[in-house]
Amino acid sequence: MNTATSISIHQTRTVEHLIQGVATSDGAGVSLTRILTGKLQRRLDPYLMLDAFGSNDPDEYIAGFPDHPHRGFETITYMLHGRMRHRDSAGHEGLLENGGMQWMVAGRGAIHSEMPEQEDGLMEGFQLWLNLPAANKMAAPWYKDFPSSTIPEYTTQDGVTVRVIAGESNGVSGAVSREVTEPLYLDIHLPAGASFSTAIPATHNAFIYTYRGATQVAGTQVDMQRMGILKNTEGADGITVSATEPTRLILVAGKPLNEPIVQYGPFVMNTQEEIHQALDDFRSGRLA
Ligand code: FE2
Repeated sequence: MNTATSISIHQTRTVEHLIQGVATSDGAGVSLTRILTGKLQRRLDPYLMLDAFGSNDPDEYIAGFPDHPHRGFETITYMLHGRMRHRDSAGHEGLLENGGMQWMVAGRGAIHSEMPEQEDGLMEGFQLWLNLPAANKMAAPWYKDFPSSTIPEYTTQDGVTVRVIAGESNGVSGAVSREVTEPLYLDIHLPAGASFSTAIPATHNAFIYTYRGATQVAGTQVDMQRMGILKNTEGADGITVSATEPTRLILVAGKPLNEPIVQYGPFVMNTQEEIHQALDDFRSGRLA
């Protein structure tokens, strides 16, 4: 833990649109809320999906995500509460728990399972999908677990705690940095009455999602379980958020790829032919 001064930015971004997630289920029957859906992939390029999971009811998570493939993008799983065991086709295995994060570059292919390692209690977190540039979609897969203690964290004079999962915020470098899409991923905890600012390049697509309390952004309130898509205003050099009650949110931003997006379930490529190839590779055991 260290301290950092929350910079003053010249002009904050505003909220362009508020989004309510869609209740769905995935894997072998895990209840979750899909916040970033397919129709927002263009607007929030390079991000493809954001799911929030959070339940005290084991029936809603115990089935987990048995073996399934991915190709063409990166998955970032951030666990707020709970324990999830990860195993993949390259022989990697890891346990994701309270406050930890797993970053996986699926690249040309990974087959993995994500299974709860708890039979009761709260399981809560997020899975975010980040696209890969066309040139890197068939790169070798890579993954790393980041236990909570290894995620850089700082506290401002206002008592705001910021966990820097990816990118850089107020001079603090995150657990992961990536070229090309330059992802910024922050988990921000605001005490009542606090405000916080961080820089975001104006051309990067960005959103926030409030998971406790309520976030104020330039006069707009982003309630709990709502996503606020942030407007790309020329000259806006960052964001200022504030809260009148204890509030927690994630802030996600990245540099758009502006490349064609063709998705078929867990495969995200640039053309239909590449999707057919992925399916063919998967069915014939050549994906991973
Ligand atoms: Fe997965």
